Amino acid sequence: MEPLQHDKLPRHLAIIMDGNGRWANQRGKNRVFGHTKGIKSVQVAVEEAVRLGIPYLTLFAFSTENWNRPTEEIGTLMELLVRSLRNEFEKLLKNQIRLEAVGAIDRLPTLVQQELKHVIEQTKNNDKMVLTLALSYGGREDLLQAVQQIAAGVKNNIISPEKIDQSIINKHLYTRKLPDIDLLIRTSGEQRISNFMLWQAAYAELYFTSVYWPDFREVHLHDALLNYQNRERRFGKTSEQIKA
Ligand code: FPP
Repeated sequence: MEPLQHDKLPRHLAIIMDGNGRWANQRGKNRVFGHTKGIKSVQVAVEEAVRLGIPYLTLFAFSTENWNRPTEEIGTLMELLVRSLRNEFEKLLKNQIRLEAVGAIDRLPTLVQQELKHVIEQTKNNDKMVLTLALSYGGREDLLQAVQQIAAGVKNNIISPEKIDQSIINKHLYTRKLPDIDLLIRTSGEQRISNFMLWQAAYAELYFTSVYWPDFREVHLHDALLNYQNRERRFGKTSEQIKA
């Protein structure tokens, strides 16, 4: 197999972890079983990303739209989140991983908010990798809340409308501390963005795999990274310009 080139890894890797429900249904189990099994894949992705030296890993763990799921499933996802934060805390410290969360965090149950706050605070000086959980996150909501803040800034004479540029928009997004996404992986065969980071993924390379999230392992991450390394990112320029 072609080796990974460490100088050609994405700076910011994001993953839409999809297919837990279908994975479980295929096995005659309920959807919650799939989410439980998906935790192992989260561990694998995080450990492998930090081992490879990827500086930013973002996981889409719960979308704005996921609030419409059955209450019981939402409850289990929140419990899994709290449990994972508690169980993985030591490993985050050991691996020098900083945790961040983006999204409408104030909509999450208090216990989840408390646990997140604790782990974010305790890992804030870690500098090997930033692991961001997108929770209660929607790309349109992110842009909407940025527009609201900027509009308030204009109203209060802090921002002048003609000075609004891309960097001002960036600064008001939930993701203000993150660079643009370089590689976006979605598992489970669906080929959609599903209201993930619309602005931030403007120039992301998209990679879709049919593997369901609970089956996602190092080999699948390597396949995606190898595929990424063989792409030419042109950002609107010509191939000749890029090579020159
Ligand atoms: C998508 O599968 C997955 C989710 C909505 C939740 C992802 C959550 C985890 C893997 C566990 C907890 C997370 C962390 C970060 C510890 P789906 O339910 O949409 O699957 P389907 O499309 O087959 O129904």
